[in-house]
Amino acid sequence: MDKNITKKTETENNNTNNNKNFSKKELKNIQNILKTPPHFGENFYIPKDNLPDADVIALGKQLFFDVRLSSNDKMSCASCHQPQKAFTDGLPTAKGLDGAILPRNTMSLVNLLWQKQFFWDARANSLEEQALHPLENPLEMNMTKENLVKKLKNIPEYVTLFKNAFKNSPFGGWGALDIAKALAQYQRTLISAGSKYDQIVQGKITPTEEEQRGIQLFFTHPIASAGIRGGNCGDCHGSHLTQLNTLHNNGLDGNYKDLGVGFFTKKPMDIGKMKAPSLRNIALTAPYMHDGRFKSLEEVLDHYNEHIKPSLALDPLIIEATNEIDATSLKLTPQEKKDIILFLKMLTDSSFVNK
Ligand code: HEC
Ligand code: HEC
Repeated sequence: MDKNITKKTETENNNTNNNKNFSKKELKNIQNILKTPPHFGENFYIPKDNLPDADVIALGKQLFFDVRLSSNDKMSCASCHQPQKAFTDGLPTAKGLDGAILPRNTMSLVNLLWQKQFFWDARANSLEEQALHPLENPLEMNMTKENLVKKLKNIPEYVTLFKNAFKNSPFGGWGALDIAKALAQYQRTLISAGSKYDQIVQGKITPTEEEQRGIQLFFTHPIASAGIRGGNCGDCHGSHLTQLNTLHNNGLDGNYKDLGVGFFTKKPMDIGKMKAPSLRNIALTAPYMHDGRFKSLEEVLDHYNEHIKPSLALDPLIIEATNEIDATSLKLTPQEKKDIILFLKMLTDSSFVNK
């Protein structure tokens, strides 16, 4: 993490790095190259000057797994974002260069094509912008833009890959920005749509009774007075993507050590607000939350059901969600918590992690 960033002033930002209005031809190209599943919709966030291209993606993939992108040749993006762990590292908080303990949990990388803001505190407005942070962070890959370009220019394999990828570039495709562009393009190919839940959505299989209950509870906001029971998870982890590009305080603390969005905006109402991440492959990405405080999905459910901590910025969607009239917590039954965990496990996509 670096702190010298001028941050947007609002939770919902109008960023210009990301675009989701494409011509018919562009849209077709995106769908063909990235093989986007129809049930995820077409709200793709891609900058106009970095539309998908097979050669750029190939370069990006090579870069993502290459330890030479770090100052001591020991750390690649994939050191922390490991494919078999759904692009996480299994640690509470990430381990950087020479074992430095970083302040936050490594985020999983999944279905980023439909996401418009990145990092727990959403401080990056595009994947292109995001990629330069770990590259330049002294505790992560510890490179300057200049060193990075110089280093890669001396590797013949990269000379070819860059030529193929950025033929039209007036600078021959050697700016650090092109490195970021290629990494971003590769990461947009990380699409997970092969879970049991996807098969159900596509009508390929029928859910069991328990599975149906889990789906229902996950997506329903409870209305106790009408007898409608729900876990309200979909309020923030909504749609088939299980994320809505929104930021919330989900009641982890009364006093926040990590202020999240509030660190940048300095607004009391933003304290403890973080990106509500996608829950795709969540069974593979423990421990959970921005600081990895929960070891299991059971602990996560206990948090939402029984241990919400009030603070000024606590999300109203959580404050008002309860399954019992006049109760002050969610009040799911033990069986309902199990049903929701069953749903979360249905989001595991083994074809994705074995790619
Ligand atoms: C030392 C471990 C480490 C390395 C190396 C690393 N990351 Fe990360 N990554 C993290 C952590 C930790 C976060 C969350 C940081 C935060 O919120 O401040 C993160 C967040 C991200 C996100 C945001 C995901 C989201 O849903 O918002 C993306 C994208 C990402 N990393 C891509 C990369 C790329 C590309 C590289 C290589 C250039 C890389 N990372 C290198 C640990 C690492
Ligand atoms: C008001 C919005 C909101 C609601 C409602 C909500 N969440 Fe979250 N969820 C978040 C936010 C924000 C985070 C990240 C918080 C952080 O780490 O500081 C999160 C994090 C998580 C994580 C950890 C993700 C990871 O990669 O570590 C899991 C699992 C999760 N939520 C599951 C659920 C379930 C299950 C429900 C319903 C019982 C639910 N959430 C309800 C906003 C919400």
